[in-house]
Amino acid sequence: MPGDRPRLARRMAGIEPFHVMAILARARELEAQGREVVHMEVGEPDFPTPGPVVEAGRRALEAGRTHYTPALGLPALREAIAGWYRACFSVEVDPARVVVTPGASGALLLVLAALVDPGEKVLMPDPGYPCNRHMVRLFEGEAVSLGVKAAQGFALANDQVIRNWDARTRALVVATPANPTGRVLGLEQLRFLYEAVRAPDGHLIVDEIYQGLVYDTPEVTALALGEENLFVVNSFSKFFGMTGWRLGWVVAPRVWVPALDRLAQNLFLAAPTLSQHAALAAFSPETLAILEERRQIFQRRRDYLFEALTGLGFRIEGRPEGAFYLYADVSAFTGDSFDFCRRLLEEAGVAVTPGRDFGSYRAERFVRFAYTTDLERLELGVERIAAFLERG
Ligand SMILES: Cc1ncc(COP(=O)(O)O)c(C=O)c1O
Repeated sequence: MPGDRPRLARRMAGIEPFHVMAILARARELEAQGREVVHMEVGEPDFPTPGPVVEAGRRALEAGRTHYTPALGLPALREAIAGWYRACFSVEVDPARVVVTPGASGALLLVLAALVDPGEKVLMPDPGYPCNRHMVRLFEGEAVSLGVKAAQGFALANDQVIRNWDARTRALVVATPANPTGRVLGLEQLRFLYEAVRAPDGHLIVDEIYQGLVYDTPEVTALALGEENLFVVNSFSKFFGMTGWRLGWVVAPRVWVPALDRLAQNLFLAAPTLSQHAALAAFSPETLAILEERRQIFQRRRDYLFEALTGLGFRIEGRPEGAFYLYADVSAFTGDSFDFCRRLLEEAGVAVTPGRDFGSYRAERFVRFAYTTDLERLELGVERIAAFLERG
């Protein structure tokens, strides 16, 4: 009957929407009524895709490059990605280990599908990127959230992984720089995690999607640690400004590539062809010069917003070194960060993301600010937040 609720598979019960979507929908409503909203909730760069990448995509389209590529990706792009690791990190990666995917999302999906049996556990920090938890659920695994504290830079404590590991645990997923905290893991921290999961023959999945957006600390890649039991996920979405092109990759241990290939063939045949051709221009000196300029702009925004928010009484332990997020403790103002976000939008016209989108550990104390809008708008947002707090 039309209007009846569909009988969804049981696994759908664990798949939550993004709560920020309710905020966003309300923001759109207010905008339609003529209110003007400062958007600090958006998790993608405000900049357009760099010109040389767009141009390469346009040329590919005109040349009729509209057929499938191999499921593992264009050989030239896999080589270019390997070359990027050599150029930036002096790490040798065999292009045969690079699997091109529809976004980091496609990469996480492939890896978790290949790795997790029903009933098996995957550990992950909370707060963290929520889709990881949902993908594990989709494969009938069990996501185990490990609460991480602001005072520890939102990093897993040394023994937290070991204490929570048992015979059913298959993997640990971490992101660096992280969403929503912007915190960066150093190579020593990554090495500790790698050794902790390898001891019981577990796997480490490192999501490096915000790589390139790192400020005042050296950049590393987990690929420097080795090959076995290690999957490194990345994407053209964030640093390269290509969210809508849906293109990412995973560097997998050699022995896993045939399984990922088989899965990719069955799940999506291949990543978008035009996007792959466009991305061949992503590592050119022209593009990298544009991206470096943008990185510096993000850094200036971060510095401004960090100072401004902490000045207003938001608690942020340490200046996050990466991504484009600040994860702020709002417990000085409210016991319910979701309600705080709702009121901030209604009463001040500023949209931010509530902590509950990133897990449940102390989520009601936190909100995420994204500095994916220009300095002028950030200043306007801060002015409005200051007036809102003053009104109580
Ligand atoms: C930590 C993290 N991983 C993965 C993704 C997925 O990105 P995409 O599929 O666009 O590459 C996101 C998107 O926000 C993210 O924040």
